Amino acid sequence: MSKKKYSVVICGGGSTYTPDMMELLCMLQKAFPLKKVVLYDIDEERQRIVGEFGKVMFKEYYEGLEYYYTTNKEDAFQDVDFAFVQIRAGGMDQRNNDEKIPYKYNTIGQETCGPGGLAYGVRSVIQMIQLVKDIRQYSQDAWIINYSNPAAIVAEATKRVFPNDKRLINICDMPTSVLDAYLPLIGLKRSDIQPVYFGLNHFGWFTRLIDRQTGYDHMPDLLKYVQDNYEQIHQQFKNKITGPDDHWGITFLNHLEMMRDFPYSLPNTYNLYYLYPNKSLEHYSINRTRYDEVIEGRETTVFQYCKQVAELGKMKGTKYDLSHRINLKDNATTDDIDSQTVYADNDVHAAYLVELVLSIINNKQDFGLVMVKNDGICKNLDNDMMLEVSCLVGANELMPLQVGEVPAFEKGLLENQYACEKLLVDAIFERNDLKLLQAFTENRIVRDADLAKKLIKDFKEANKDYWPNFK
Ligand code: NAD
Ligand code: G6P
Ligand code: MN
Repeated sequence: MSKKKYSVVICGGGSTYTPDMMELLCMLQKAFPLKKVVLYDIDEERQRIVGEFGKVMFKEYYEGLEYYYTTNKEDAFQDVDFAFVQIRAGGMDQRNNDEKIPYKYNTIGQETCGPGGLAYGVRSVIQMIQLVKDIRQYSQDAWIINYSNPAAIVAEATKRVFPNDKRLINICDMPTSVLDAYLPLIGLKRSDIQPVYFGLNHFGWFTRLIDRQTGYDHMPDLLKYVQDNYEQIHQQFKNKITGPDDHWGITFLNHLEMMRDFPYSLPNTYNLYYLYPNKSLEHYSINRTRYDEVIEGRETTVFQYCKQVAELGKMKGTKYDLSHRINLKDNATTDDIDSQTVYADNDVHAAYLVELVLSIINNKQDFGLVMVKNDGICKNLDNDMMLEVSCLVGANELMPLQVGEVPAFEKGLLENQYACEKLLVDAIFERNDLKLLQAFTENRIVRDADLAKKLIKDFKEANKDYWPNFK
């Protein structure tokens, strides 16, 4: 077990996911010992709310930790071992545009899939490349672990600009959430298995669930269990839905229905947008999208929680007390922490990131779902594709698990989506309007060039402070 103490910067310090991430860092301080935690954001106000909460928490629970929040790059990025990145280029106002503009044309509005994802992609690629350059200016060897969306497009772009940067990795928590939703049905948990997964980010499939002890593939058993007990599981998933705003509850019910239609693998929930566009479209409207639910839900809850703790000036001895959950054993993992957080709406987001870090610092070779260049992992797909696959994660490298040949149905879907994402990144780098039109038209959710032109026109207007000038 490593005794080194690490320095972490969280970029997107004002993100709704940051408080939860800081709590986890607190709880796992034996397993992942820290000397410094810094928050970095460009929005002082958001970051102050989250940052002040951190001050109270770390002061009470993390002896000797240096902690501050800043909007100054030099203060943020010097002496960093790990940069956790969760920025939203353009903020939530632009998420609102990404989701609402397509609804003007009766088209799915989503932050990562379809035209909204492409609009967000243009902003995110530009800001992420700058951020990585900034971090690298001060900390050459830091691990940069990026969650910022749309991760597939960000990964395609960062691959091109930083081709030899082995410590820059793009990740997503969705495949992990899918495992957490389904493995318990057959009495398993994530740490029991090594999954085989392939796809582009937010468009992929688990094909095998290999038992870490025995090598047995649990996938056929899971698929059979789902098939044999479909009605009962359906009811179980339905019962969990808390109301019409329970986006993830509803998503997982739709996901189960997708598994009945395609009963041979465990898909990503985001495949729903591409395979069931009508159902996905009907879920929201131009007046209400996921943006509204997040603003009223997670953002309100998390910021309220932060403000309440900051105002109280303490957590110990209050209802926010974390004492019973910290100071775990040296080799603790996230399995050792109960999943119930102080505030609602937590998911595997922070846990999954910290699991990756524990595997890196201890050279554990645990599996992680990470975006890497294909280079033969899926033999009949383009070698340059940034695939999301299962990798063994160690101190020096990520070793992808081989997938082999991809079936015709999945191959066709992925090649179409890759062409779209690749064209978008070409368009951004070359400021090329024609390629922008091709990217939008190529997209399975847009398809029609006239629609693509209307969407691009509106997105150019909405993004005039963020998009480059396409010619
Ligand atoms: P949010 O809007 O609540 O927080 C993002 C923060 O980033 C804001 O405080 C904003 O001011 C800041 N920011 C924006 N541009 C910045 C820049 N250039 N440099 C520094 N800070 C910047 O968003 P959120 O809902 O918490 O999500 C954060 C990001 O994480 C989004 O990109 C989201 O899509 C992504 N995310 C990804 C996954 C995944 O599976 N990959 C999961 C959850 C969230
Ligand atoms: C999942 C996805 C992320 C996405 C998030 C959106 O975790 O993997 O990529 O950003 O959901 O969640 P939200 O609650 O903000 O709609
Ligand atoms: Mn994701």
